[in-house]
Amino acid sequence: MKKVLVATVKPFAPAAVVDIRNIIEKAGYKLVLLEKYEDQGELLKTVTDIDAVIIRSDKITREVLEAGENLNIVVRAGAGYDNIDLAAATEKGVVAMNTPGQNSNAVAELALGMMVYIARNSFNGMPGTELRGKTIGIHAFGHVGKLVAGIAKGFGMNVIAFDPYIPSDVIEKEGVKAKNSVEDLYRNAQYVSLHIPANDQTRESINYDLLSLMQQGATLVNTARKEVISEESLKKMFKERSDFRYVSDIAPDCAEEILSEYPERCFFTPKKMGAQTAEANINAGVAAANQIVNFFENGDTTFQVNR
Ligand code: 3PG
Repeated sequence: MKKVLVATVKPFAPAAVVDIRNIIEKAGYKLVLLEKYEDQGELLKTVTDIDAVIIRSDKITREVLEAGENLNIVVRAGAGYDNIDLAAATEKGVVAMNTPGQNSNAVAELALGMMVYIARNSFNGMPGTELRGKTIGIHAFGHVGKLVAGIAKGFGMNVIAFDPYIPSDVIEKEGVKAKNSVEDLYRNAQYVSLHIPANDQTRESINYDLLSLMQQGATLVNTARKEVISEESLKKMFKERSDFRYVSDIAPDCAEEILSEYPERCFFTPKKMGAQTAEANINAGVAAANQIVNFFENGDTTFQVNR
């Protein structure tokens, strides 16, 4: 009997686990649950006789892939797969997948929620500003970026976007002004919302050169990954520009330092909350379980990311 492990330091909503279990057991497989584990050793121990793993931001390192001798497939229930050692997975013949789009709405709603929060001075009682009439620059127009655009339009914002991989006409079909360069995006927005993945091209790519182009009073919104930000540049921006604000769902390593010096100009969620809704957990968890069954039963590798 195939064994499917759900390994989640940050557990899915209980309803999502019920749905995942139903799909796995209906296929005749066994579900193994490893939730809220405290060290990687627990994952290494549990994975030894497992055929498939469903994870969130959990780390699938070379060590895990080596410990999981029976492993055929790892599915990241979510979008970003920077937590999987793809080279090691490929070497070991393990298929790695994600579930694109399944948790995007939750992330998009949080981006706008954080914008309202900072625009209203972190609810400190003082008059803030409104989003209506302001311009939001969407950096990468994938699943989340597109949803952010739709919600921002509902707020009456002007929406501009830049994505080097998506043709302008595809962006403009959504009623969004496409910008030709990333510099142009940062120069022309009061809010910049990041939706780029963390990879070798993007790591620390949000640097001083780019940030310093931002308008007076501009806010950077990060629901993507902390690794895409150059923290030295971030600190320099806070120091030099008393108008600059940063809100993020993934606290930077320098969070304490900037929070203590500029508390009114930044905000970080206590844990990564973007995909923390029952709906997102159910969508991504169910998609992951179905992808595993489809892979074993039909050889379907549609969402494979390590080809
Ligand atoms: C993703 O890449 O899908 C999001 O960052 C959500 O991550 P999480 O499942 O760890 O909340």
